[in-house]
Amino acid sequence: MNNYAEVQAKAPIREPERQYYFIEICRKKVQEESERLGRPLTFCVTTFGCQMNARDSEKLAGILEQIGYQPEEEAQADFVIYNTCTVRENANLKVYGHLGLLKHRKKDRPGMRIALCGCMMQEPEVIEKLKKSYRFVDLIFGTHNIFKFAELLAESLARNTQVIDIWQGTDQIVEDLPVERKYSFKSGVNIMFGCNNFCSYCIVPYVRGRERSRKPEDILKEIEALAKDGVTEVMLLGQNVNSYGKTLEDPINFAELLRRVEQIEGIRRIRFMTSHPKDLSDELIEVMRDSKKVCRHLHLPLQSGSTRILKAMNRRYTKEQYLELAQKIRHEIPDISLTTDIIVGFPGETEEDFQETMDVVRQVRYDNAYTFIYSKRTGTPAAGMENQVPEDVTKDRFDRLLALVQELAKEQTARFAGTVQEVLTEEENSHKPGYLTGRMSNNLLVHFPGDKSQIGEYKEVRLEECRGFYYMGSIVNPSAISR
Ligand code: 5AD
Ligand code: SF4
Repeated sequence: MNNYAEVQAKAPIREPERQYYFIEICRKKVQEESERLGRPLTFCVTTFGCQMNARDSEKLAGILEQIGYQPEEEAQADFVIYNTCTVRENANLKVYGHLGLLKHRKKDRPGMRIALCGCMMQEPEVIEKLKKSYRFVDLIFGTHNIFKFAELLAESLARNTQVIDIWQGTDQIVEDLPVERKYSFKSGVNIMFGCNNFCSYCIVPYVRGRERSRKPEDILKEIEALAKDGVTEVMLLGQNVNSYGKTLEDPINFAELLRRVEQIEGIRRIRFMTSHPKDLSDELIEVMRDSKKVCRHLHLPLQSGSTRILKAMNRRYTKEQYLELAQKIRHEIPDISLTTDIIVGFPGETEEDFQETMDVVRQVRYDNAYTFIYSKRTGTPAAGMENQVPEDVTKDRFDRLLALVQELAKEQTARFAGTVQEVLTEEENSHKPGYLTGRMSNNLLVHFPGDKSQIGEYKEVRLEECRGFYYMGSIVNPSAISR
């Protein structure tokens, strides 16, 4: 411990230099351990939740690989990290379930280490529970200090007690830490962190903190470097990308950021997630319409079709405003795919309110919709609302909504049958040997014959057979490789 105090005292104050210093400290430790065992040490980062978490996990993996850990399946890994989600109660239950299994595994493997991070760790009740009943977890940190992972790991390796570090918030954005991408040809790029919207059901503003945008020059520099490294598709990530840039010293808006990303050579596709309808500007619709690179897909969470419920949700748009926006987008960009998120069973939701949601779904004809049963999150305004809807009523509405959403999504998907689409080949098909899976600009998947040397390439694929939510197809001109 004294030793470690000395190590800490010598650490640079500035970031990211400080983290690179701790990476080096950890690297020596891991090297010693692996020499002792006569084999490399291994890790697995398991992600729960959204694309933001997936990107955070790539950052954790990047640091671990620099430290000398090698990637491995979770069941065999020496170091297991769960990057958690807490958007719905189910997400928390899943993590506790997995932890139960890890406890047994750790008993059989004394050298094993376990870390927990992500949104769930920002909830005080969770930390209390982990302190009390999950002592076998070695390291626990949250969303605001994830950049400090190497430093926390160094502390954890030096001590044999549970290390916990949770921050309540931060305005810090640390640039230039290592990242290990899951795919060589596509990558998420954070453009902002946190959320200021406080939708009344949502825990995200409490666990991810206030909205902070990265500077455009840092984002562009990162994407240029990715492009040089073979990335052709980027997904710009934020809880509410439409309010990007508002908090910057030199404010720029999201539409302008897209224009600048579009100019980066080597980038062929630009996606983004997530848009809040209240902030989606005409300028953004124009940029999307006129762009050759911005993908033909927009995820536009509805949450509810009832103006009354939308008000209680603090969404700040009405049913009519949403419908008008969706119509405008479909009119300007006819080949666009629209997808959405819908919550069923928000407190006070009546059958009439629910019918308003069904009505919007019928009118917009979503290409896909993610439907959720309302989940009460401690600390949010909705958790304290009266008129919580009984479970059986919610379940019945959920089933009816899902049936409608699926019926319409199938029809929407089928509208592309027989066309030839540019597809980015993403992976080998896990069910059908000799087949690849690719993604169209509008986010639909198509499976087609090919071999894995074609992964990461763009192909012209004819959509031959619509199978509900995806297609079977074949490459139009297999010998033409366009990259
Ligand atoms: N209950 C159910 N669904 C929720 N979402 C967010 N909070 C809750 C909650 N408390 C859904 C919203 C959001 C998506 C990511 O998760 O639909 O858009
Ligand atoms: Fe949650 Fe609303 Fe922010 Fe989305 S916009 S993260 S639903 S508070």
